[in-house]
Amino acid sequence: MTISRHKGRDIFLMYVLGIETSCDETSAAVIGGAGRVLSNVTASSLNLHRKYGGIIPEIAFRMQLDSIAGVCDCALGEAGLTLKDIGLIAVTNGPGLAGSLNVGVNFAKSVSFSAGIPLTAVNHLHGHIYANFLSHRGIEFPFAALIVSGGHTSIYRVEDCDRMEEMGSTADDACGEAYDKVAKILGLGYPGGPVIERRAALSSGGSGLRFNCSAAGSRYGFSFSGIKTAVLYHVSSLKRSGARVPAGTVNDIAYAFQEAVVGTLADKTFAAASDRHLRDILVGGGVAANSRLRREFERRAAKTRIKVFFPEKRFCLDNGAMIACLGRSLYRKGVRAGAELGLELD
Ligand code: KG4
Ligand code: ZN
Repeated sequence: MTISRHKGRDIFLMYVLGIETSCDETSAAVIGGAGRVLSNVTASSLNLHRKYGGIIPEIAFRMQLDSIAGVCDCALGEAGLTLKDIGLIAVTNGPGLAGSLNVGVNFAKSVSFSAGIPLTAVNHLHGHIYANFLSHRGIEFPFAALIVSGGHTSIYRVEDCDRMEEMGSTADDACGEAYDKVAKILGLGYPGGPVIERRAALSSGGSGLRFNCSAAGSRYGFSFSGIKTAVLYHVSSLKRSGARVPAGTVNDIAYAFQEAVVGTLADKTFAAASDRHLRDILVGGGVAANSRLRREFERRAAKTRIKVFFPEKRFCLDNGAMIACLGRSLYRKGVRAGAELGLELD
């Protein structure tokens, strides 16, 4: 990587390099003025984790150490830029896996220091919300946001990029985690979200099977461990009466599970928006890629005055572009980081 000294630029026009290493991905992106994505390069270690049925932090961290410099170089190259064109580096400093986050944060700090480029730190979950600003104009503050990822499920009231109030979250498993665990119970492999979505779409929906997400005790809270256990008991009882669960039954279980989850996410998020008189709902995180979820939110929005926004599917999973996007807004607000930047794991 060529290192040269940065010359100051107008924050509204400058190029921002976003770096994301909170879980198994190593991602770097360059965005230009008005949030235009010039490049978004992601190296994922997902294939190395598949056989373990979940992310192994040590494997993720080693791959990130090997790939961070190359991924950033690639992002700059695809954007047709060098470091001296970059006006700001935005890096995820939490929540996530400590080893993985350290790779991105330490890399960003050293490039920032040696090239004289300002640095800002970004919360990964808030970054998922900001993935929406990469593709949509006309979002009105304050708005309600639902984060549905592999590690978190929360509803926020967002006043501004630096003022996000968590209204509720999950009491146990995250929504993506529930997809992953149910896929494991059904023998469908990892990650569970995309495969459950595919199998659910193959069901006629007419089996009569129903699951429920247990009440989480609060109006905007979630609980997904009960439904996972209900699927487990159901599958165990089927296995007791026969050797293998037929493929059609697996599809029906995937369908019933997904319907319950999507219904709960929509009920709670629309309740939060309407209670607080919020006109827009933004959804973000890996589960936001789910087509059934997108359809249900759009269906409900069509019946109300609430507008719903989802990121483009390529920006639902972890990516550097969303980090660059939120980083720019935070920087405009004066949020800066330096050599002292540490991790915020929770
Ligand atoms: O946001 P993300 O990339 O990583 C975290 O920050 O956790 O989310 C990953 C999660 C996984 O649990 C995965 O199963 C889920 O997102 N996911 C989906 C879909 N694609 C990914 N869940 C439901 N439907 C999908 N199409
Ligand atoms: Zn994420």
